Amino acid sequence: MATMMLASLWACVYSRFLRGWLKWALRLLTGRCELQRICGRARAGARRTSGIEHSLELSKNKVLRNAVYVGEDEVEKCVTDIMKEKKIIEQKNKEFKTNLQVCLLQISGYKQLYLDVENLRKVPYDSDNEEHEEKLIKLWNLLMPHENLKARITKQWCNIGFQGDDPKTDFRGMGLLGLVNLVYFSKHYTSEARQILSHSNHPKLGYSYAIVGINLTEMAYSLLKSGALKSHFYNAVPGLPNTEHFHQFYCYLVYEFDKFWFEEEPESIMHFNHYREKFHERVKALLLDYDIVLTLQNRREQ
Ligand SMILES: *[C@@H]1O[C@H](CO)[C@@H](O)[C@H](O)[C@H]1NC(C)=O
Repeated sequence: MATMMLASLWACVYSRFLRGWLKWALRLLTGRCELQRICGRARAGARRTSGIEHSLELSKNKVLRNAVYVGEDEVEKCVTDIMKEKKIIEQKNKEFKTNLQVCLLQISGYKQLYLDVENLRKVPYDSDNEEHEEKLIKLWNLLMPHENLKARITKQWCNIGFQGDDPKTDFRGMGLLGLVNLVYFSKHYTSEARQILSHSNHPKLGYSYAIVGINLTEMAYSLLKSGALKSHFYNAVPGLPNTEHFHQFYCYLVYEFDKFWFEEEPESIMHFNHYREKFHERVKALLLDYDIVLTLQNRREQ
């Protein structure tokens, strides 16, 4: 308790007084501002971009502090403004300028990605919408190439892990995002998806493929929302991430969760909560590493 209080007191003193003083002293000593020093010592990716993001967020200068909120199309102007504020001469610091620009693009890209994913999540599944229906049928055809659907409303849906005879009610809080993720995985990793579906029919360790798949969409979404995926995206995408990159991360989760489930051998699906949380904690721990990139391809090459 006492150490915790001391630690938070230190953090407070540090952020209020020492940080500013230290930055000023280092600027005098090195002739470079904090942003330049970060770009100089940290290689491209999460180490550099998160360092820059953190420094900007803590800045007392409004231009710098606001830089983490600029949109993609304002990045270039923002970089010029920052260099003016910090009296950094462009001609002599071309590399710094490029690096800072990439960092700001990644920072704004992550925020935009969250908004795009959120927009998809907010669309409820609508069985009167032809596009939605097509996606659902496509999911079936990708997973069950040798079995035709006998009707739109049928108990067959349970064979791919939906709960009843109409999947429309199973997407709940994840809306269209849940379906798009399921289709993406089945389309881009068809053999893996069919293999996991067949695992999920295991007599003792089985689980509902689609329902768990939708649940993992929620995991991916909440990791994105909390900022936990920053390191991954800053390392994996050197520019602006898009929803495709998010679907790729989802594929990693589905693939790893299935492996995890069979390694853990849960007593029954009744313990889903517990194992989901354990898996979630494991992924969160991996994401704390500044050098992390979580992709399905990487895992398979190992
Ligand atoms: C996913 O599973 C957890 C744990 O059982 C639950 O709390 C959560 O509501 C589920 N989310 C979705 C979208 O089904």
